[in-house]
Amino acid sequence: MTKPLLHAPAMDLNSGTKRRKTIRIEEQDICIKMDKLNFFYGASQVLHDIDMRIPRKKVTAYIGPSGCGKSTLLRCINRMNDLVDNARIDGQILLGGENIYDKAINVTDLRRRVGMVFQKPNPFPKSIYENVAYGLRIQGVNDRKTLDESIENALEPVGQ
Ligand SMILES: Nc1ncnc2c1ncn2[C@@H]1O[C@H](COP(=O)(O)OP(=O)(O)O)[C@@H](O)[C@H]1O
Ligand SMILES: [Mg+2]
Repeated sequence: MTKPLLHAPAMDLNSGTKRRKTIRIEEQDICIKMDKLNFFYGASQVLHDIDMRIPRKKVTAYIGPSGCGKSTLLRCINRMNDLVDNARIDGQILLGGENIYDKAINVTDLRRRVGMVFQKPNPFPKSIYENVAYGLRIQGVNDRKTLDESIENALEPVGQ
């Protein structure tokens, strides 16, 4: 298994290359902060001591070979890995200063705040309209005009 490229004292997209470059982010500009994050599928450790700062209102990308742990790390941020048998995490992830693994955290609320677009789409067997409307409907939005406008706004920019 390839060792993850995300072992870094701060956000560091070059840690897998010879030239190590660390980008410093001011404390108040940090949105997500990971400290000493380790992740295991059963006996297999996939993430090793990750310290990473993700700034707010910026696009952050992380890059690495297939199987290095990118998706696992993403799923840690909205606790999707809670659903995987034998998965174990230690270390800490703070979102806006709050520990997302704290017992008091409502995981559904967390996943409303930390959305995820999957590599492979997995639509429900409904129309495109109803798939896009689904999120709004479960939040209690059923007004046709609001739905029509929101769906148009979501689909038009991606050429649908
Ligand atoms: N549910 C799982 N159970 C056991 N091992 C897994 C599971 N999901 C991913 N892995 C393993 O964890 C490692 C990292 O996978 P992943 O996070 O999907 O990598 P990436 O997204 O960088 O391709 C791989 O070795 C993969 O086989
Ligand atoms: Mg992946």
